[in-house]
Amino acid sequence: MIRIRRACPSDASVIGAIHVATWRNAYAGVLPESYLKSLSPLRHAVGYEQAISERRHGHAVFVAVATGEDAPLGAEDAATVVGFISGGKSRRAAENSAGEVETLYLLDDYRERGVGRRLMRAMAAHLAAIGCRSVMLWVLKDNPARWFYARLGGRQVAREVIRFAGQMMEQIAVDWDPIETLLAATATAPER
Ligand SMILES: CC(C)(COP(=O)(O)OP(=O)(O)OC[C@H]1O[C@@H](n2cnc3c(N)ncnc32)[C@H](O)[C@@H]1OP(=O)(O)O)[C@@H](O)C(=O)NCCC(=O)NCCS
Repeated sequence: MIRIRRACPSDASVIGAIHVATWRNAYAGVLPESYLKSLSPLRHAVGYEQAISERRHGHAVFVAVATGEDAPLGAEDAATVVGFISGGKSRRAAENSAGEVETLYLLDDYRERGVGRRLMRAMAAHLAAIGCRSVMLWVLKDNPARWFYARLGGRQVAREVIRFAGQMMEQIAVDWDPIETLLAATATAPER
């Protein structure tokens, strides 16, 4: 079984580890190897722990937790965090009613089972509850996750070139406006 719940500070170390593992995997060959090697699970864990505890600007983190036969091999008796999503009020938008998804990462073995959609659903419901009327996010143009967002009805509304890890990269802004379009696209989120 895979359950979605709000993260607590004790989840931060696993979240930091998943963040770094998925970056190393998703951006191999895209970002410099030296940069990927230098990523620190501990440093990310500290940042997530702070974000989870402080809840500033409506910030929230939700985790996907696997148990029983869905748990990783050898961990069937424990509840294991296998993915997460974070977000809150938009970091850039002038209006206070725009929400932003900041990160969304799932371990390899838990993809294509509807968990990403369920995490997006949890975040959309949270953002709607704190008064957001739209949701946006940034995704690197070369990241296949952009097609996942398109599948959920996200519209490409802007693109920009950023300097990241010493190289120029194109990223795309995706949005759901109004937020109800994302709530509708994630409404039926069965576990597979
Ligand atoms: C992106 C990610 C979160 C998607 O989660 P997921 O659980 O695999 O996605 P779901 O199973 O909920 O998929 C929902 C729908 O999107 C589709 N989809 C998922 N990933 C897709 C992709 N890369 N390309 C096209 N469609 C995709 C699914 O087939 C499914 O379609 P359906 O409505 O016909 O069933 C996951 O692949 C991931 O963690 N990727 C690596 C990290 C990353 O790049 N994160 C995004 C950073 S911006």
